[in-house]
Amino acid sequence: MTVTDRIAKTDILARASSSSTPAQETDVATISGLKTIICLFRFLCDPLACAQALFEQHGRLVVIEPVAGLPRPRATIIAVGAAYNRAVLGNPQVWNTVHHVQRGPKGSALDRMGGNVISMNGAPHDHYRKLVARPIGSASVADMGDDIAALIAEEVARWPLGQVDLWQLAQHLVRSVAIALLLGGDQERGARLATLFGDMLLLSHSPQARLCPFNVPGSSYARVLRQAEAVERCAHELAERKRGSTDKRDLLSLIVNSPSETGAAAAADDIAGHLPVFFASTYETCQTVLLWSLVLLAQHPDVARNLVDEISAALAGEAPTLARVTHLPFLDAVVKESMRVLPAVPYQVRVATQQTGLGGHDVAAGSHAILSPFLTNRDPQVYDEPTRFRPGRWSHITPTPFEYLAFSGGPRMCPGSWFGTAVVKVALATILSRLRVSIVPHTRIDYHVAITMKPRTSLAATLHPRDGAWAAVPLKGQIRDIVTWS
Ligand code: HEM
Repeated sequence: MTVTDRIAKTDILARASSSSTPAQETDVATISGLKTIICLFRFLCDPLACAQALFEQHGRLVVIEPVAGLPRPRATIIAVGAAYNRAVLGNPQVWNTVHHVQRGPKGSALDRMGGNVISMNGAPHDHYRKLVARPIGSASVADMGDDIAALIAEEVARWPLGQVDLWQLAQHLVRSVAIALLLGGDQERGARLATLFGDMLLLSHSPQARLCPFNVPGSSYARVLRQAEAVERCAHELAERKRGSTDKRDLLSLIVNSPSETGAAAAADDIAGHLPVFFASTYETCQTVLLWSLVLLAQHPDVARNLVDEISAALAGEAPTLARVTHLPFLDAVVKESMRVLPAVPYQVRVATQQTGLGGHDVAAGSHAILSPFLTNRDPQVYDEPTRFRPGRWSHITPTPFEYLAFSGGPRMCPGSWFGTAVVKVALATILSRLRVSIVPHTRIDYHVAITMKPRTSLAATLHPRDGAWAAVPLKGQIRDIVTWS
């Protein structure tokens, strides 16, 4: 049975447990012993299918009990739905964020990478969030509108007709724009850091590295540690070039030249901890949103044609700019719907800092809660035909952030949503003004989750001149299991 079939089957179960039910009365299922090991392994291999299967079999709250002998034994709670999202994300003092990269031995480059705005908590987090939030807020992004459009136009003008790797093009476009506008402009080193860190994330999310975090020569974990050192060296190089020159639009220079939350000058190792994860948070998400939007449009010809019509009417022959496209309702709906069906960050992890409760059940300090934007965004209580890509639904739904977790919810909601959606909207308008995209028939599209959900390999597509002949093609791979394509 595919994931989409299972979601249809769980409609009945889900309807019995409203998404607005307070997070204090749900039945809890417990998994223990050998089943814990199997479950954790399945989660590491495919977090989406595993969370979906648990939801189908056990409902919205599942506690995976710790097993003595496993590294860092702790309970893991998988909680699905708006009420739990609100209870956890709305309470960051009790539910802290965790290291977004794998933990390393004390004093290692991998360990230092935990010191970044996304993984920090308390005063250091507040300090760095404040530092970066303004330059990426709505007013700053509106000021950057012309630059965003010019950079994207330059990139898309280089996209060739014929067969391409759509994933590579989407990555290049988003990274170039982010490096040029937010990350110091050093395209060569910026791209190197992006690639090194992207490879490290993939390595560190492999089941081998997660289940055997021992620094034994030749092991996956040892490779992660070496890769983290290469990432750190590259981050040091980038940071050194920014020392002493602050530009308030350049986030890299702000992080390098601003004192830490204690007022002390930021140390080189701390800066190198911030940069890779911060770099990644600016583009890893946007590039997957752009890619999945293009794939979904290519496979939904009517939606693509309606979008092209809206964009053409709005532009009336002029070039796309942020001001011209940002308020187009159907474009807005297409981007929201892409992020609903294939969210860039499909699960989030939090750790309980103290004994607490969830859904009326005791939670020990140190327990992990896994929230699922992937399942939340498909909650049949909120979305009809949840596994279908239907942008039209956004004309009559207004889910809360806890019902639609594309950018997370609560006080730690993504501060980069303005920049992210601006880039994706201008990129889609620019691409569709010039080109029609089709996926090469029978292409295999598998996903991989390493914080973001991305295609496992290249993605073969064909770029045609704009001719209106949008047509879906048969696809292979896991992507068929998580979206209803017909
Ligand atoms: C469409 C693009 C984007 C999406 C879908 C997205 C999504 C998210 C999500 C889901 C989180 C929460 C992660 C978690 O709790 O584990 C997050 C956090 C964050 N994002 Fe984004 N993001 C996007 C673009 C950006 C951009 C462009 C920037 C920077 C310029 C950015 C900076 C951040 C930061 C700093 C945080 C951590 C906030 C905190 O913990 O206080 N994001 N993002």
